[in-house]
Amino acid sequence: MGAPIIVGITGASGAVLAQRCVEALAARGRAALVVCTQAGAVVWQQELGQPFKEWARSAPCRVLPVSDIAAPIASGTYPTGGMIVAPCSMDALAAMAHGLSSNLLERAADVTLKEGRPLVLVPRETPVSVIHLTNLLTLAKLGVRIVLPVPHFYARPQRVDEVVEHIVGRMLVAVGVDEALPPAQQYGEGIR
Ligand SMILES: Cc1cc2nc3c(=O)[nH]c(=O)nc-3n(C[C@H](O)[C@H](O)[C@H](O)COP(=O)(O)O)c2cc1C
Repeated sequence: MGAPIIVGITGASGAVLAQRCVEALAARGRAALVVCTQAGAVVWQQELGQPFKEWARSAPCRVLPVSDIAAPIASGTYPTGGMIVAPCSMDALAAMAHGLSSNLLERAADVTLKEGRPLVLVPRETPVSVIHLTNLLTLAKLGVRIVLPVPHFYARPQRVDEVVEHIVGRMLVAVGVDEALPPAQQYGEGIR
C-alpha cells in the first residue's frame, strides 16, 4: 500500500467524481485524505442530494476541515502519494496557479507542487476564458496533470456512470495509483 492520496473537492460541478474517486481508492486499499471547500459542500448537496458532512461520517477516507491549516497535509514533511483536485473550480485553479494558500486545500496543493509530487486537476467550466486557459497553462508547465472531465465518446457510453468511471480511471492513472486504464476503458476497437 502506497502513501495516502489527497482528494481536494471544490465548488465546481461534478461532485460525483470526488465521491467515486474516494471509493475507487478505497477499493485499491489506498488511503484517501479528503478536504472539501465550503462551496464544494454546497455543490455536493445540490448534485448528490446528501449533505457532504453526512457522507463523510461513513466514507472510506479521513476528512480534514478546510479551515484546519495545521493539518498534517499542510506540511511537506508529511508523506503523501500526491493530490487530486476533483472537481476543480476556476477559483481554486487561479489560487493554485498563483501559489495562494488561504485554506487547507490550497495549501495542500502548494505543498504537493513544491515537493514535486503528482498533482492532478479536474477543472470543470465551459466555455473557458483566457484567464482560465492561462492558469491551466501555468500549472501544466509546472508538471501538473490536467484531466478534463469529458466523455469517452469513442467507447459509446450509454450512461453517466460509465462516463464517471472512465474519468475517475483517468485520474487514478494520472496520479500514479493505476498503471493504465482497464482494457474495457481503452480505445479498443478504434485502434489497430
Ligand atoms: C451549483 C453550482 C455549480 C457550480 N459550478 C461551477 C463550475 O462548474 N465551475 C466553477 O469554476 N465554478 C462553479 N461554481 C462556482 C463556484 O462554486 C464558486 O466560484 C466558488 O467560489 C468556488 O469556491 P472554491 O474554489 O473555494 O470551492 C458553481 C457553483 C454552484 C452553486
